[in-house]
Amino acid sequence: MVSTPATAAERCGVQYLPQIQSDNPSPNQYLLPLTAQVNAQNHLEIGGCDVVELVNRFGSPLYILDEATLRTACRQYRDALKQYYPGESLVIYASKAWNCLAVCAVVASENLGIDVVSGGELYTALEAGVATDKLYLHGNNKSVDELQFAIASGITIVVDNWHELKTLVELNKHEEATPVRIMLRLTPGIECHTHEYIRTGHLDSKFGFDPDQLDEVFQFVSQQPALNCVGLHAHIGSQIFELQPHADLPGVMVQWLSKAASYGLSMQELDVGGGLGIRYTESDDPPSIDAWVKAVGEGVAQACKAQNIALPKLIVEPGRSLIGSACVTAYTVGSQKEIPTIRTYITVDGGMSDNPRPITYQSVYRAIAANRMREPLTKTVTIAGKHCESGDIVIKSADLPETQPGDTLVVMATGAYNYSMASNYNRLPRPAAVLVNAGEANLILQRETYQDLIRQDRLPERLIKQA
Ligand code: LLP
Repeated sequence: MVSTPATAAERCGVQYLPQIQSDNPSPNQYLLPLTAQVNAQNHLEIGGCDVVELVNRFGSPLYILDEATLRTACRQYRDALKQYYPGESLVIYASKAWNCLAVCAVVASENLGIDVVSGGELYTALEAGVATDKLYLHGNNKSVDELQFAIASGITIVVDNWHELKTLVELNKHEEATPVRIMLRLTPGIECHTHEYIRTGHLDSKFGFDPDQLDEVFQFVSQQPALNCVGLHAHIGSQIFELQPHADLPGVMVQWLSKAASYGLSMQELDVGGGLGIRYTESDDPPSIDAWVKAVGEGVAQACKAQNIALPKLIVEPGRSLIGSACVTAYTVGSQKEIPTIRTYITVDGGMSDNPRPITYQSVYRAIAANRMREPLTKTVTIAGKHCESGDIVIKSADLPETQPGDTLVVMATGAYNYSMASNYNRLPRPAAVLVNAGEANLILQRETYQDLIRQDRLPERLIKQA
């Protein structure tokens, strides 16, 4: 480890760029996408495309998604499951991390399924051509419309609570109805160390059935011809670096799987959720995809052996660790404000509207100047967003070279929960996104225009100014 790296390119050698130590680097352990390089112009290159040129061509800010990194992560999950779990398995992408047509299509082409949490996400996945037998609908308050949409589409519904269970029976009780394929979400009572807002498996959670409700739920479900209950689901939280909670979860779930059998319910699927973290800073040290799958796969196999039950189809549903490290956001530097002896603010042309994670979860990111990759990192600055809000700080403390207005600043690891949580705060149009691969860049999300911003606005007749 170099102690004080002089330039971003050198630092890249250590931690930003994957100076790949293994043949099969785990994307979630790197700050930049796997294809990142510094080219002869001292610019950052991703997917064979010069980031500065991408910004010139597609505008700023710009989400740049590296297809090879996304596909590598998909394959690693798939292959590791085959290696460590002797039964059938399926990886489903938790598309809340980033749901749009192109992302769904790439993931589906790797034979992954997709988890959706709303009618909107379901609609997008279907439009992208995702097969209905690989679509799973989550949510703790699905509307009747969403449930009807899911039933009509023939996908699997992960039932969260009694209200939903009873609504489904009502919606599907007519005689010729095919039983709805459902799973039951349980709250396993497993604690993990992550931000309070993204923890879901502890008992005081809004998601899922409490363990003490399950006997009654199994009894009820076993008597409903309208329902075909195929398995159990749990998800303990997100951005988790520990393996132990994931290794413990199968034991709890398999116990309930075996209990369900005593109610005559034959459940063949076990969905253990997602949650593997990614590296946002040098000090983050998440386990690899391979290590996570090993812990989960072996955990399930052992638990089934101990309970003497047949191996269920094992489903995992990662979001962040599939896509988070595959994307960067490129911004253009604008105004600077130097407050002597206090700090220097460098402002970019986006902020909390394209990445609400710093202001929401105090998330820490790292940035590099994409057009000054070999210049010494001489300044520690605060990178501010352009929103009318003091809290709109993209990075509190960033090591950068001397920058000028017009420079291209890249914030790393922005693939998960950035675009999907983006807003039009201050009526900023949402940025464009490009998918890069082998030197080619395809627009996958068009930049919003001012016309887009007022598309849903309606001006009552009486407010229209008389000419
Ligand atoms: N399955 C279920 C049921 C989930 O609720 C989630 C995430 C996942 C899978 C995927 O978890 P992942 O592999 O991405 O950790 N907006 C927050 C994260 C919220 C996560 C919500 N559920 C953030 O920006 O950190």
